[in-house]
Amino acid sequence: MPEFSAVLSKIIAIDGPAASGKSSVSKALAKRFGVTHVNSGLMYRAATRAVLAEGIDPGNTKEVDRYIGTVDTAAKAEVNGELSIIIGGTVREGLNSEDVNTFVSAVSQAPLVRDRMVALQRRMVESIPTIMEGRDIGTVVFPDTPFKFYVTASEEVRAARRAAEGLTDQVAARDKADSTRKSSPLTIAEDATVIDSSDLTLEETVEAIATSLEEKGWR
Ligand code: CDP
Ligand code: CDP
Repeated sequence: MPEFSAVLSKIIAIDGPAASGKSSVSKALAKRFGVTHVNSGLMYRAATRAVLAEGIDPGNTKEVDRYIGTVDTAAKAEVNGELSIIIGGTVREGLNSEDVNTFVSAVSQAPLVRDRMVALQRRMVESIPTIMEGRDIGTVVFPDTPFKFYVTASEEVRAARRAAEGLTDQVAARDKADSTRKSSPLTIAEDATVIDSSDLTLEETVEAIATSLEEKGWR
């Protein structure tokens, strides 16, 4: 594992449940503060896509880990804001498909999948100021960063946001699985600033986090 002390002041961690606004908010903040944006969920989605393509039962944790242990894994944040992900080969298409939405929480529980992704996430940001969003960024991946946020909204509001995007996504089921799993469950870090965006516009949410970042000494 790399040494993080030199980069801790340069990582913003955004965690929260499905459709809470993590990606939209992180993208806007990355632009505003001129930092790299990494959506860690895409890495778990790519792993799920690869598992499904191999015909492996996503609920069979042992088989999922056996597979992930045999393939090359890599991730790189590109200058255009895209994330290149390799799980065996490059995985790019269908990351937000209905079958990935259905099975991603199961695949994300596999211990070796988590170890691999966390190691890649830490390596990716070495000396690069980054805003990383996910479920365990402030609690597990970068627990020492002082810039931590937990973005949330009511279950009804989040389901409505996904529906407005025309996507089928059982956000409640995913939240339950993500919050109750044994390895790195979705929890609020003790030192995270919680932002409930149920009644906020996207711009208001971004503004609330930007103000808090400045108060915490981000520059
Ligand atoms: O965008 P949305 O919140 O719907 O999901 P996502 O961030 O793309 O994450 C998809 C799934 O990956 C989550 O439901 C988790 O099961 C898993 N995930 C995780 O376990 N840890 C992370 N740091 C990020 C995502
Ligand atoms: O990444 P995550 O799944 O947490 O959420 P997202 O994909 O960024 O956001 C889901 C949808 O909610 C997007 O269409 C946003 O424009 C919208 N939205 C929001 O993110 N925040 C608000 N305060 C209001 C709406």
